[in-house]
Amino acid sequence: MRIRIFETPSEGGLYVATLMEQTVLRLDEPVLGLATGSTVLPCYASFVQISMYGLDMSQTSTLNLDEYVGLDSEHPHSYRYFMEENLFRRLPIRPKESYIPSGTADNLDEECRRYEDIISKNPIDLQILGIGVNGHIGFNEPNQSLLSTTHVVDLTEDTINNNEKFFRDTDNMPKRAITMGVQAILRSKQIVLMAFGESKKRAVVNSIEGTIRTEVPASILQLHNDVIWVLDKESASLLDLQMIKGVNV
Ligand code: GLP
Repeated sequence: MRIRIFETPSEGGLYVATLMEQTVLRLDEPVLGLATGSTVLPCYASFVQISMYGLDMSQTSTLNLDEYVGLDSEHPHSYRYFMEENLFRRLPIRPKESYIPSGTADNLDEECRRYEDIISKNPIDLQILGIGVNGHIGFNEPNQSLLSTTHVVDLTEDTINNNEKFFRDTDNMPKRAITMGVQAILRSKQIVLMAFGESKKRAVVNSIEGTIRTEVPASILQLHNDVIWVLDKESASLLDLQMIKGVNV
């Protein structure tokens, strides 16, 4: 595990954008695992700028973590829409494929199986993650199996409260989502988790210093051998960096 602490989310985001660029440049058929949420916005903005210098995404596939149940791709709060607006349509050369689970599939169980199959055929080289205030990754909420595959999840109170900020009409915020499971996240060759601000400090310390447990889904990342935590001073403020042995800060 490595921990990098930056002055601002923009600096952290730029660093992660360069990791994405290196992955795209290094591999013949790169696969990027992508996330949504406010945390990743500075990273995507930097990546768009970097790509303006001629980064060819035509051989790159992307796989997103999750999607709200009930929102179609045109819905301004769907994650498909988020990705189009903040990344895909801004790139001079779009990715070869950009996979996101469909939240409007007639049969959600089948959609989960279809997505799991896509993940198996496209092993993720670099997985970008944010973290929920409750420690969730993707929409893998606390107290669920940490061995899960793609599944439909009931969002917790914490997540609904936190993500309501994106919804003008909060009554219509979906209460369920489809998410890639922890199993697929752990199979990614490299994982970069970004967390910025006070509100994430507990999730960060519990995930890095706590025991691995279902109450804090991101704590399972302790088992992965190539994880970089990209933090700012606020999100890192509870960490006892002297105590974390073997961590390259
Ligand atoms: C959602 C996404 C997560 C993301 C989280 C954090 O719940 N499913 O993948 O990490 O939001 O959101 P934010 O970055 O806005 O704090």
